[in-house]
Amino acid sequence: MTSYAGVLETYRPFLDIPAHTRTVTLLEGNTPLIPMPKLAETLGGGFELLVKFEGMNPTGSFKDRGMTVAISEAYGRGAKAVICASTGNTAASAAAYASRAGMRCIVIIPAGKVATGKLAGAVAYGAEVIQIDGSFDDALNLVVAISERHPIALVNSLNPYRLEGQKTAAFEICDVLGKAPDWLALPVGNAGNISAYWMGFKQLHERIKTTLPQVLGVQAEGSAPLVLGHPVEHPETIATAIRIGKPARAEQALEAAEESDGRIIAVSDDAILKMQKLLAANGVWVEPASAAGVAGLAHELERGTIDLKGKVVTAVCTGHGMKDPDIITKDMPKPHILPSEMSALEDYLAREK
Ligand code: F0G
Repeated sequence: MTSYAGVLETYRPFLDIPAHTRTVTLLEGNTPLIPMPKLAETLGGGFELLVKFEGMNPTGSFKDRGMTVAISEAYGRGAKAVICASTGNTAASAAAYASRAGMRCIVIIPAGKVATGKLAGAVAYGAEVIQIDGSFDDALNLVVAISERHPIALVNSLNPYRLEGQKTAAFEICDVLGKAPDWLALPVGNAGNISAYWMGFKQLHERIKTTLPQVLGVQAEGSAPLVLGHPVEHPETIATAIRIGKPARAEQALEAAEESDGRIIAVSDDAILKMQKLLAANGVWVEPASAAGVAGLAHELERGTIDLKGKVVTAVCTGHGMKDPDIITKDMPKPHILPSEMSALEDYLAREK
């Protein structure tokens, strides 16, 4: 038996990467494609819904797929330091892979807008975390400028190797289904992931003649530059991962939506949080941004603007719920505190349900 070796080794012949690339991996990828029949019923039924649960990657988000490739390339050419701007997940992922390669990792994040689990991850893996009094978009401008002036590798999704790695998720979906899904729904922030999926599906279409899915990209209403058609100066949303006003890969994302006969839409924070609860009620706990894809499907179904009858629909849930525990615990009912006695527990069980 050959054991699983991570996305770079598994899909190397399909990746456009330089020969100097030296694999740095945490055996990311190979994440579950989970059938969600009960949730599909809740949304009206008549279609097959599967969640690609990217929260099951080593640092808890889909970023690991792209990061293994970006860090492997940087490491292979002798880079000693990497930098990124981040709403949190990229930071934790960059920190983890840089630590394995023995590289310095600097991450720039918007102060006060990064979920606890992500910040803790970046610190735990040994990154130098710099918070700025500004947005993700400001942070991205800074790191792009710095990487042009200093020998520090940029590992945001402007780095093409990030997309090479991230497109492997499309390959995995087709491997498991034995075909492409009819629809793919996913959240959109800086727009690297939607661009990467589309690259992956197109590549398979060209090489092995799989069909192409229609792509539904979903932004949060307060941070929806691709829906509005212009940058958003002060993006706001509870889904801090996608609190982005000027996506770096905007053009490619719009192309993916158009070429696939799909679309990019916006949903409210309430709809995102409602879907986060619904997913969790089906055993899949994701961070708020990660629920946006399915919330987008629900939005379209409610309005009758999508016909999913008989279709196979894959929704990408990009990050684990444990990334952002505060969003759950802040509204948690007060805990029951009982004496440590059997009778007290029996009284409780008889009383509550
Ligand atoms: N979902 C999660 C959980 C994310 O962390 C992100 C992006 C996205 C969706 C959107 O993906 O940017 O490729 O369109 N997070 C970045 C970060 C911006 O810094 O961690 P995208």
